[in-house]
Amino acid sequence: MATANKGSSYNLATYAHIIGWGMAVPERIMTNDDLSAIVETDDKWIIERTGIRERRIASEKESTATLALKAAQKALAVADILPIELDMIIVATSTPEYIFPSTASIVQNWLGATKAGAFDMSAACSGFVYAMNMASQSIRTRSIQTALVIGSETMSRIIDWTDRSTCILFGDGAGAVVLRASTTPGGVLSSVLRSDGAGWDVLSLPSVGSRDLNNAIQPNGHKAFRMHMDGPEVFRFATRVVGESISQAVADAGLTLDDIKLIVPHQANLRIISAAARALKIEESRFMVNLDRYGNTSAASIPIALVEAVQQGKVKENDYLAFCGFGGGLAWGSMVVKWGAPKPKTEERAILKEQRRQLSYTLGDLRMRLRKLGRFWENLLTRFTRRGRIQRLRDRVDKLD
Ligand code: UT7
Repeated sequence: MATANKGSSYNLATYAHIIGWGMAVPERIMTNDDLSAIVETDDKWIIERTGIRERRIASEKESTATLALKAAQKALAVADILPIELDMIIVATSTPEYIFPSTASIVQNWLGATKAGAFDMSAACSGFVYAMNMASQSIRTRSIQTALVIGSETMSRIIDWTDRSTCILFGDGAGAVVLRASTTPGGVLSSVLRSDGAGWDVLSLPSVGSRDLNNAIQPNGHKAFRMHMDGPEVFRFATRVVGESISQAVADAGLTLDDIKLIVPHQANLRIISAAARALKIEESRFMVNLDRYGNTSAASIPIALVEAVQQGKVKENDYLAFCGFGGGLAWGSMVVKWGAPKPKTEERAILKEQRRQLSYTLGDLRMRLRKLGRFWENLLTRFTRRGRIQRLRDRVDKLD
C-alpha cells in the first residue's frame, strides 16, 4: 500500500528523461556535384527528388564505433554524469563495427563504463526509436537507472557506389542521448513499434548470416555486402505509415497533435516529410529537417536532427516532441517525449566531472591494453612451464633407459 511506504520513492512511478545529447559527423563533405562525377546524376535531380544537397563521408580512420564514441562523450558532458553511472548502452546501427562483438561493447570499453550492459539494436532506420523504447522501458520498470542510446552509421561503407538511386541518399554520422530515471512525470511517454516482414526484400544488406555468402551475387540477384533498395516501394511504404504511426503515439501519450511542438522524423527524403505533413494536416514547419546537409544517416538521423533542433533553440522545457523512424524490415516506430531541462550545474563541479570523464576514457583504453599485455605474458609463461614440464618428463624417460 502506498501509505506503508510513505517517505520512500518506491511507489512513485518512474519516468525516463532525456538529460544529455550529442552528435558527431565526419568532416568530409560530399556534395551532389561530387556525386555527379561518380554516377550519372545531377544536383537538380537530387534536390528536387530528395531535398539532399550534401552528406558527410567517414575518413579511413573513422568508423561506426568512433563516431558513436564522440557523440556519446558529448551526451555524457551535457548530462554531466560519469561513464560509471551508465547501466545500459545500446547502439542502433545497420553498419556495426563487427557482427559481434557489439559496437556498443566497444564503446562501453572506450568510455570506461564498467557497470553497463551493452548491445546493438538492428532495426535499420527505425533503430533509434526501438532502442529508446528498450532503454526507457528498462528505466520505467526500475531494472536500470541510466542508459546511453546511440544511433551511429557509416552507410558509405555499404553503399553500392554504382547505383545512382541509392548512393545519392546516404551519409555517415552519429547521435546519442542519455536517459535517466526520475520521479518527475515526463520523458518518454509512449512508443509504437511495428514491422511488416513481408517487405523484407525491398530494403536489405545481404551480409554475413545464415545465407550462403560464397556467391557475390545472392540468389535474388542482390549484391552481397551492398545495400539493395527498391526506392519507390520504400517511398510508398513510408508515406503510408509515418502519419498513422505518429498519430497513434500521440494518442497513446494522451495528447493531440496540437500539443506536439516539434516532430523529429527519420531524415530519408523531404518528399516523405511533406507527405506526412499533408497526411497529418499540419504545417511542414513543425517537422525538424536537416537532411539537406547530412542526407539519410539511417539510425543516426533522428538523434542528429534532435541535437540540432536543441542547438537551434527549437526545443524548450516541457515541450512535447514526436520521433518517427521507418525503413528496412520493413519496420517503423514512433514515440512521444516530454522535454525536460537538465539540472543547472556549478562551473566548478562541471570542470571536475569533465576531468573525471576524461580519466575514465583514458583508463578505458589502458584497461584494454593491459588486458592484452596480460594475455601475452600468460601465454608466454604457460608455454615455458609447459616446455619445462615436457623437458622434465623427457629427463625422466632418459633416466629409465
Ligand atoms: O532510410 C530508409 C528509407 N528509405 C527511403 O525512404 C527511400 C525512399 N525512396 C525514395 O526516396 C525515392 O524513391 C528515391 C529518391 C530513391 C528515388 O526517387 P523516385 O522519384 O522514386 O525515382 P524513381 O526511382 O522512380 O526513378 C525515376 C527516374 C528513373 O528514370 P526513368 O526510368 O524514369 O528514365 C530513374 O532511373 O529517375 C531516375 N533516377 C535518377 N536520375 C538522376 C534514379 N536515380 C537518379 C539519380 N539521378 N540519382
